Amino acid sequence: MSYVSVDEAVNLLRSGQVVGVPTETVYGLAGRIDSEQALRAIFSTKQRPFFDPLIVHVFSAQSISELAVEWPLVFQKLANKFWPGPLTMVTRKTEAVSSLITSGLETVALRCPRHPKALEILQKLGVPFAAPSANRFGRTSPTLAEHVETEFSGSVPIVDGGPCEVGLESTVIDAHQERDIWKVRILRPGGVSRQELEHELESQGLNFTIERVESSASPGHLKTHYQPSNPVVILTKDLSDAEILARARKELGRNLVHVDRLDLGDEPALAARFLYQRFRELSQIENGLIVVVKTRTNINWEAIWDRIERASTLTLN
Ligand code: TXA
Ligand code: MG
Repeated sequence: MSYVSVDEAVNLLRSGQVVGVPTETVYGLAGRIDSEQALRAIFSTKQRPFFDPLIVHVFSAQSISELAVEWPLVFQKLANKFWPGPLTMVTRKTEAVSSLITSGLETVALRCPRHPKALEILQKLGVPFAAPSANRFGRTSPTLAEHVETEFSGSVPIVDGGPCEVGLESTVIDAHQERDIWKVRILRPGGVSRQELEHELESQGLNFTIERVESSASPGHLKTHYQPSNPVVILTKDLSDAEILARARKELGRNLVHVDRLDLGDEPALAARFLYQRFRELSQIENGLIVVVKTRTNINWEAIWDRIERASTLTLN
C-alpha cells in the first residue's frame, strides 16, 4: 500500500484507517477524531506514547464550537489572520473530543491547515482529523511523501502533496486573560513567528503579552526530538573537522569518520523549509556527523534553533 488519491484517502479515513496527508508544515498521520480504532492506530503506527496529545485539524473555524467550550477573542483574531495556516491554538475541549486525543487533558489543540489537499480531505470527510507528524516517535518529521513511505516501510497509505512549503511544525499557543491583558504563551515555536503574532495583536488593538514557555504545558515537546539517524552536533564556534571528530567520538562513543556541515543560509523561511530534508539526506552518509555552527540566532530563527537543539546529541564549545 502506498500512494492514494484524495478520494481514496477520504474513503480510508471514513472506514477508520490512518492515512499520511500533506500539510503546509510537515506530513501528518491522520485519523478521524470519532474513530477509536483510527486514534489507536495513530499511536501504534508511530510508536508514540499516550502522554503526547494530538492536534485536531479542522476545515474551518466553523467547526470550533463542537470541539471547544471556549474560544477566546484573541484566538478569533489570530484565526482570522493565520488560518488556514501553521498556527495551533490550545483551549478547553468539549465532550466530542476523545481523551485519547488529548492524553487525558481537559484542553485540545486545534489548527486549520493550509495545504489544498489537506483542506480537500477535511471538506470531503466532513469530520476533523487528528494528525501528529508522520514519523516514528522522536524522529525527524517528514516534508516529502517519500519520507513517510520510508518511515513506515510502505505500510501506510499516503497522499502525495509534494514538498511541504513551511517545513517545520506549526506554532502552538495557549492564552488566558488576566484583568484586561491577554497572556499568550508559545508552547512550541513554529511556522508563525512571534513577531507575526505580535504584529497582528498590536494591529487589532489588543492588550497582550507573549512569552515562550518550556514546560509540561506542552507534554509532547520533549528535550530530545526530531532526531535524524546520524548524530547532530552544534558548534558554538567553528572547529576543525579533526577536532570535531575526535571530541564527538569520545563523547558519543561512536565510530564517526565524516563531518557534514549543514549550511543554514541567510533566509529563515528557506532554512526551515529544507532543514528536515537536509537532516535526512545527510543521514545517508555512513558514520557521518551533522554539524551546525551556532550562528544566526536572532528571534527570526527561534523555531529553527528550537528544532536543531532538540535534534542534537552534543554541543561543542
Ligand atoms: O504542523 C503541525 O502541527 C503538524 C502537522 C501534521 O499539522 N503536527 C504536529 O503534531 O506537529 P505533533 O503530534 O508532532 O505535535 C503536537 C504538539 C506536541 O508538542 C503536543 O505536546 C502539543 O502539540 N499539544 C497537543 N495537544 C496539546 C494540548 N492539549 N495542550 C498542550 N499541547 C498540546
Ligand atoms: Mg511530531
